[in-house]
Amino acid sequence: MKRRTLLKTGAAGFAGACFPTLSLAMSSADKASKAEYDYILTAEPAKARIAKGGDSDILGFNGQFPAPVIRAKQGKPLRVLFINKLDEATTVHWHGIRIENSMDGVPHLTQPPIEAGESFLYEFTCPDAGTFWYHPHMNSVEQLGKGLVGALIVEEETPQDYHDVVIGLKDWRLKNDGSYLPLSIPREAFRDGTLGTIATVNGQQKPTIEVPAGERLRLRFLNMDNTRVFNLSMRDNAAQIIAIDGSPIDKPVPLDVHPTGAGMRLDVGFICPSEIAKEIPIYDMKGRFGVEICRLKTVAPAKKISKKTGIPALPVNPIPAPQLASAESLSFVFEWAGALSPSDAQGQVDHNFWLINRRAWSDHSHQHLPEPLAVLSLGKTYIFELHNATPHHHPIHLHGLIFTVLESDKKTITPFHTDTILLEKNERAKIAFVADNPGKWMFHCHVIEHMKTGLMGYITIA
Ligand code: C2O
Ligand code: CU
Ligand code: CU
Repeated sequence: MKRRTLLKTGAAGFAGACFPTLSLAMSSADKASKAEYDYILTAEPAKARIAKGGDSDILGFNGQFPAPVIRAKQGKPLRVLFINKLDEATTVHWHGIRIENSMDGVPHLTQPPIEAGESFLYEFTCPDAGTFWYHPHMNSVEQLGKGLVGALIVEEETPQDYHDVVIGLKDWRLKNDGSYLPLSIPREAFRDGTLGTIATVNGQQKPTIEVPAGERLRLRFLNMDNTRVFNLSMRDNAAQIIAIDGSPIDKPVPLDVHPTGAGMRLDVGFICPSEIAKEIPIYDMKGRFGVEICRLKTVAPAKKISKKTGIPALPVNPIPAPQLASAESLSFVFEWAGALSPSDAQGQVDHNFWLINRRAWSDHSHQHLPEPLAVLSLGKTYIFELHNATPHHHPIHLHGLIFTVLESDKKTITPFHTDTILLEKNERAKIAFVADNPGKWMFHCHVIEHMKTGLMGYITIA
């Protein structure tokens, strides 16, 4: 099989010119095993200019930020040779992929940690097309917080008539000189989480992303931040949501304001104005006010494009339909143990502030796994009744499966597929899925500090 390079240059010219442009094709591990993988990915310390006033010590996939965009094909195997060049153990998790359990990248639960200097071949097939991402599942406050997050795009079996624009969002806890602030502050960890101080889009502060005039765009927003919720909006510009968290929706709907929590994604279809140098701002809304996160700017297209009209729906992924009539319901209550008030030990988060069904699991380096939150029978449909009994929001994520959101007591739901549901404070919601993927699957909040302070567990499907 022919090796792919890390980046296809075609789209990169219009992607804000900020993605690394070349692969590590010539690394030494390469030569022996050319046929055996599609990508080499390392995790390694590096320097990057994020703050205006100086370089930062980051942890980067292939030493870069933003990390290389990995592109896979729906239904085709993807092989990534991962090399750990950090000075500590790590793993790589492929967020949103209905993957084989042994490739899910959770230390102890699905594989031994990949120790410093070791490598691991991740090999799996992506059954669904869409916008996914990858990140470690160890020492996550630091490893993700310092840059180990990247986009994984799974292309449809049949190419779609959209021009791709990847918009990767991540904030950093940096001072202006590029040095770090404490990545986690306990009194924040037990609220909404510690917010970054410098916002980046594809590694740059408030970039202007060049896009071809008159083209139909697929804006792939990825919230790869540890903490923040982006209330994505393009205001008066007629944009339409075409996929939520990687899963296409049946019929595109107008994008008004879409709350996108940590770990979540949003695909938006948008037809660019045909005038050159038109600027289209993109916002994170706070009530009626918007903070601009980046803007698009039209440039002359490289090649002549046909006139685009309408925002076509994407092909729906092959997610099995839940059999609600025969489903078993299980309830999960997320609670706040805020009464255990945090002591402000120098940025160290060693508390349990959060519980799932009265249990906290915060120790990812444990040798002994706790009992699963639930054991599900393979092939059966389950309804999870989720209750966020805390005064804070939580993007609750399930590995290895894609579920359907059925209802909520806070908003009207048109059922949709997702791997992460953003629960508002005190919200109750119902989700359903067919437990068709055997293994041990993490079930946790994607506010990384919440996960590290108890809001984490797993379910077993057997
Ligand atoms: Cu992005 Cu445990 O996941
Ligand atoms: Cu995940
Ligand atoms: Cu949370």
